[in-house]
Amino acid sequence: MAEIGLEQLTKIYADGTEAVSALDLEIADGELVVFVGPSGCGKTSVLRMVAGLEEISGGTVQIGGRIVNDLLPKDRDIAMVFQNYALYPHMTVHDNMAFGLRQQRVPKVEIERRVTEAGLKLGLVDAMRKKPRTLSGGQRQRVAMGRAIVREPQAFLMDEPLSNLDAKLRVEMRAEISRLQRDLAVTTIYVTHDQTEAMTMGDRVAVMRKGLLQQVAAPQTLYERPANLFVAEFIGSPAMNLVEADLVRDDGRLTARFGDVVLHVPEGHVETDKTRVVLGFRPEDLEDGAIRPAQPGAALQVMVDIREDMGAEVYVHFTLAVPPVRRHDVQEASERSAGDVPGARAAMFVARVGRETGAREGEPLALSLDTSRLYFFDVDSGDALARS
Ligand SMILES: Nc1ncnc2c1ncn2[C@@H]1O[C@H](COP(=O)(O)OP(=O)(O)O)[C@@H](O)[C@H]1O
Ligand SMILES: [Mg+2]
Repeated sequence: MAEIGLEQLTKIYADGTEAVSALDLEIADGELVVFVGPSGCGKTSVLRMVAGLEEISGGTVQIGGRIVNDLLPKDRDIAMVFQNYALYPHMTVHDNMAFGLRQQRVPKVEIERRVTEAGLKLGLVDAMRKKPRTLSGGQRQRVAMGRAIVREPQAFLMDEPLSNLDAKLRVEMRAEISRLQRDLAVTTIYVTHDQTEAMTMGDRVAVMRKGLLQQVAAPQTLYERPANLFVAEFIGSPAMNLVEADLVRDDGRLTARFGDVVLHVPEGHVETDKTRVVLGFRPEDLEDGAIRPAQPGAALQVMVDIREDMGAEVYVHFTLAVPPVRRHDVQEASERSAGDVPGARAAMFVARVGRETGAREGEPLALSLDTSRLYFFDVDSGDALARS
């Protein structure tokens, strides 16, 4: 059991690429922290420095209170699970799990105890004598987990361990890894580019962009109070709708205006003297006005472009005659999501409405917005604006 401390952790590769910049993070004993961000943001570099597989260019890594910068990987008492978990094809499941322990000259009785226990925890009892090629993808993934568990390490490091599995199995395995991690209460750093995986698995989620930690918080906090536009756009699916808006005081009431839309901003929701902001609202905070009538100052009249029936709900895509928000932070965060189409002249939005909606493509639709859930960002920095 151990806490992990990263202080000013920096990685600069030989070619000058700064992959991780002065990262500070304390991970508590038994905590599962997920590092998430687009490809190339530095997640793997962080993990490899913690593991000792990559030289640290600056700062320190502490495991269990001791600085491990100069320790070899095998002396750091951690276990890694990678995306490409190579099992030994000629060995049984049992031997795959026992192999590392035999190398470490752990006594035979102890090896049997640990392997048996791991097999039970992972539901692999009936597979112990089988060879990897006869196993399903999920079982192989479990064996890879088993190899890490039997070492009884101080920490687990996992780098996109599920990315080779199909979507259904991925959902199963992420629940299983969460359960195991809770059972074992071993401090874990889990890396993924998938925000859903991050949100569902992490006690806390650390969002990275270009080597810089953007925000680290509980999943719900990231969703409700993103620190900036990058986090706002990265967390949530479909992504948050964004538009540049004017903030206007009108008769003592604060309004946000874009195109023909005038929204009433609830008192105390934003504390700023800016008159131009980036306004955000999530697809799930919009509803068909026929299902939930709009409060005054919370209505949007739109033309339906595309209606997508998702079963439990309906996604309504619409455009408004306002310019799309084009920024690097937003574009980087939304490369994975259906954001804005490059070259589009009108901004595109999505509403997640009730399945009883009568929305039809090419026809007008009245939407109601929960204005208590508006988000406000600084146009220049992209930082979230304070609430009063
Ligand atoms: N060995 C290396 N030499 C030079 N640059 C590297 C090396 N490994 C990774 N990088 C660069 O460092 C950045 C972060 O990479 P990485 O940590 O693999 O990101 P992620 O895991 O988030 O996709 C990227 O720009 C990547 O191209
Ligand atoms: Mg990676």
